[in-house]
This record gives sequence, structure tokens and C-alpha cells, in this order.
Amino acid sequence: MKESIKVFAPATVANVVCGFDVLGFAVNEPGDEVVMRFTDQPGVKLINITGDDGRLPLDPAKNTVSASVQHYLDHIGRPDIGVEISLHKKMPIGSGLGSSSASTVAGLFAINQLMDNILTTKELVPFAMKGEELACGYGHADNVAPALMGGFVLVRSYEPLDLIALPTPNGLYAGIVYPEVDVPTKDAREMIKSKVPLKDAVVQWGNVAGIVAGLYSNDVELIGRSMKDVLIEPVRSILIPDFYLLREFAMDNGALGFGISGSGPSVFALAKDFETAKQITAVQQEHLKKLNIKSNAYVSAVNAVGPRVL
Ligand code: HSE
Repeated sequence: MKESIKVFAPATVANVVCGFDVLGFAVNEPGDEVVMRFTDQPGVKLINITGDDGRLPLDPAKNTVSASVQHYLDHIGRPDIGVEISLHKKMPIGSGLGSSSASTVAGLFAINQLMDNILTTKELVPFAMKGEELACGYGHADNVAPALMGGFVLVRSYEPLDLIALPTPNGLYAGIVYPEVDVPTKDAREMIKSKVPLKDAVVQWGNVAGIVAGLYSNDVELIGRSMKDVLIEPVRSILIPDFYLLREFAMDNGALGFGISGSGPSVFALAKDFETAKQITAVQQEHLKKLNIKSNAYVSAVNAVGPRVL
């Protein structure tokens, strides 16, 4: 048995525009790191958090990392185990990039490694969903499943949980821009209508199926033209400065498709190569700068592997 471990877990782009709560993919950067070591005292202690500007709770019952690790230990019948955790936030909080998910997944992957992988990666997903519930009030899986499993994941069903690992096409790059405006996931969920017109539902499920078909057939143009959301984006786009102009910049500069990452405010474009994705983010950042809005950009291939031991 290892005594300590350091793990990186990736950020994720949830929804992939049309697949609200059912589609997501992992990226290579950014992500979070967790250092975990066994101690003699039973229980989970969070000894240190860096990079969060004091925004995250150190109380082990309130922090998603420690709470889900404790839940895991209880589930495997080892509440006698003691661990100390340091969490290093390497990505912005409340960005729409699965920030809480990356931390929770790093913690769960770390404890499972220390416990000699008692559970499979897929079996860790429900524990990570509990973490999401703690973070934003709803245990959705479209961030945590791809963060754990890597690549694109479809949440075919929540009850029972049925996760489908989808193929990752060659040559697909995400250009992500995070404008520094605050959009808490909880609020961004509460503003969505709970009923949808049938004609919009028809458009939406056609597009979700189009993305899945495009992933299986390695047809990046099909993926791009399926990145359309008639249900959620019209409501949430008002939270993002000049959202429709950012889309225009993306499409004019060669994007396959463009939309909100998770619940925002980050936006993302998919492109056929790294340079195109980079160019899109550069043009969008330039515009945000003119609006006096600070932003970060990340350009990454799809992360096919999920968390890794550092
Ligand atoms: N599917 C979730 C939402 C992802 O859009 O609210 C949150 O990042």
C-alpha cells in the first residue's frame, strides 16, 4: 500500500451545448491537484487549500473533496482509516469548467489509488456526484463522469445511472475562454425553465444524437453543426458579456461549433487544429479586453485518460 499520493484531475466542458446534464468531455488543462497521505487518526482532514483566495470551506463536512472521500471510506467499510488532504486549485472557481468536479475527482481518485483501487473508475462516479450536490445543490454527472473516465461521456440515464464512454475523434481541439464574471452554477440552474415546448425538444434531441453520431463516425463537421441549443442557451447567454458576438468571432475564425461551457461564464469552441482554437480564443480575449473584462484562455485537445498520478 502506498503512503501518500499526488493526483491531477482535469477540467471538463459539460453539456457540449445541446446535451444539458447528459454530455461532457474532459480537457488536458486546466485542472486541480490533490495531495493525500495516510495518518494514524481516523477521519478525513483538509489541512491546506491553495489557489482559492479563501473561498472554499476547510470544514471537512462542507468541502466537496473531504466529504466525498469520507463517504467513500464509509461505503467501503473503512471509517477507521485516516487521511490528510491538501487541495491545490489550479483553475478558477465558478467558471463553468467543472471546478468543484476536478477537486472532488482528484480526491476520490487519490483515495481509491491509496486503497489499491478497490472500486472501478465508474464506481467512483456516484461519490463524485454527491460532491456536486454539496457544491451546487444538484448531483449532476456531466462534469464528474468525464473528469473521472476521460474523453466524452454520455449520461444515458440517471436512474439507474448509465454512463457511456463515447469515442474521441482525432484532431478535435477546444478553445476555452473564461471571462471573469461571476456565475454560480446554482443560480444558472435556477433560471432555466422546467418545461419545454415539444418543437424545441425535437430540435434538441436531434442535435444530441447528431453529436453522438459524429463522435462515432469521426465526423467533426457533424459534431460542429449539432452544437446548437434551443433550450438553455437562450436563457443563460445573458449572463455572458457579448455572448453572440463571441460566437460570431468563433465561427468567423474557423470554429466547428461554439457555446457555453457547463453553466458558464466560460465559453468554448471546438476546432480541427490547435492553431485555429488558439486564434479563436485570442480574438475573443481581445474583445473582452475592450469591454474591460479580464479573461483566461485554455487551448487543449480532448483529454482521453481522466485523472493521473503526478
Ligand atoms: N449540466 C450542468 C449545468 C453543468 O449546466 O448546470 C454545470 O457545470
